[in-house]
Amino acid sequence: MGSIPSDLFEAAKKARENAYAPYSGFKVGAAVRAANGQVYAGCNVENAAYPEGLCAEAAAIAAMIGDGQSRITEVVVIGDGDALCTPCGGCRQKLREFAGHDTQIHVCGPEGGRATFNLSDLLPHSFGPDNLE
Ligand code: THU
Repeated sequence: MGSIPSDLFEAAKKARENAYAPYSGFKVGAAVRAANGQVYAGCNVENAAYPEGLCAEAAAIAAMIGDGQSRITEVVVIGDGDALCTPCGGCRQKLREFAGHDTQIHVCGPEGGRATFNLSDLLPHSFGPDNLE
């Protein structure tokens, strides 16, 4: 497995500690690196009205967009449990908007890296901005 970028890992880990997940008890942290090198992190934010919850990846993307960046070059997601905490389907599509097909997504547990995928591995034959050109 490739090495996990420590700045992204630490940012995602710190955000995960602040996750608001009282309903699932499943805390997730995510961090994205933008084209300018800056790291943006986010955590999941659940809601008593369950469908209104926000995933960690979406929060990290929102932080990036709010800072004026719009290209993602690398991603770290951290979640615990036996299964890999790969981004959910909706988050794969959200990442697709701002990342390349070969952008690496490092799926981690609290202890470190578990697997690395290209975005196109997680979302093959995807629909994206180029479809609308
Ligand atoms: N979750 C994320 O934050 N990212 C994912 O890609 C998978 C799921 C969150 C949503 C919810 O708050 C909790 O994990 C359990 O599904």
